[in-house]
Amino acid sequence: MSGKTYKIAVIPGDGTGPEVTAEAVKVLKKTSELFNFKLDMDNYDWGGERYMATGNVLPEDAVETLKKYDSILLGAIGHPKVKPGILEKGILLKLRFDLDQYINLRPVKLYPGVETPLKDKTPEDIDYVVVRENTGDLYSGIGGISMKGTPNEVAVQSMVYNRFQVERCLRYSFDLVHKRHSEKSRWRGLGESDVKNGKIGQLTLCGKTNVLTYVYDLWERAFYEVAKEYPQVKTDYCHVDATCMWMVKNPNWFDVIVTGNMFGDIITDLGAITQGGMGIAAGGNINPKGVSMFEPIGGSAPKYTGLGVINPLAAICSGAMLLNELGEKKAADSIENSVMFVTGKKMKSMAAGKMGYSTSQVGYLVVENLKK
Ligand code: IPM
Ligand code: MN
Repeated sequence: MSGKTYKIAVIPGDGTGPEVTAEAVKVLKKTSELFNFKLDMDNYDWGGERYMATGNVLPEDAVETLKKYDSILLGAIGHPKVKPGILEKGILLKLRFDLDQYINLRPVKLYPGVETPLKDKTPEDIDYVVVRENTGDLYSGIGGISMKGTPNEVAVQSMVYNRFQVERCLRYSFDLVHKRHSEKSRWRGLGESDVKNGKIGQLTLCGKTNVLTYVYDLWERAFYEVAKEYPQVKTDYCHVDATCMWMVKNPNWFDVIVTGNMFGDIITDLGAITQGGMGIAAGGNINPKGVSMFEPIGGSAPKYTGLGVINPLAAICSGAMLLNELGEKKAADSIENSVMFVTGKKMKSMAAGKMGYSTSQVGYLVVENLKK
């Protein structure tokens, strides 16, 4: 419909990254035909193999190169032959930071037919979004180690946040509650009195104000101050440990959760397993005014490389999130609907090797069931 052309950088990455990315690209191309826009895609071979061959994690102009694109699709970064941290910090975290992708958006949604380890929970119960702040916290790289290798060695890694980082992330999250409920009805967890008070949805701040009395004090004060600008959003607070408990016991309590980078990393793996595992969990590193990067939240799963057994749905759903961010909402919805048909009616399991189909067959199933 839009008739636009979008320039997309594709970074398939390591391990099974290229296999799942190929399926996502297949689905995106078909969607672009159906919905009448163009995708102009370029591949970049950045990852473990290139690092081992050249000694460089990224070319010098990588960030400048990516800034010329409308969006980025990433497979997975992480290679068993490369020491942990080199590729993760040198590629993934570097791109997140240098492109200022300050939001890590991770929907936790149980699709029809997908098995969850949560007893008696259905798609009705598990449908929320985690907004993970993506630039600060323990990921800032501030700290050091002294007297290394001696009995007295000391290591420090600091949890760092400034007000600006926190506020922009909170505003994004409050806006997201509005966006989620502008088209749909209100959030299902609201009580009668909330509805009377005009509430449409809920934002939960996940923190640790009982121990991290500096960093999460800043978050908490900012949260309630920014909340005044969003009277229709019900505010809620949960410590991170309790958040984990409720994500298992009562996931239906959540609508949008906002949290810092480290807690967000941890709780979204928990969220992913409740929605069927790494085969299906998608995410986006978003700079609302810049270039965003979409990736499955799981890793490169090297032991499955080349076998054609890995689940491509997380990558395919990341592609849907990419289109949504570009404004091609109908195309994004059509991918999600097709995925829900495929999980509900076709696939046996979300687990690698147990899907009842190969990686590329799952890709074709999604392509075949795309509807305009
Ligand atoms: C994630 C990953 C990364 C993170 C690693 C690979 C650096 O776990 O995207 O959740 O910690 O952010
Ligand atoms: Mn993680």
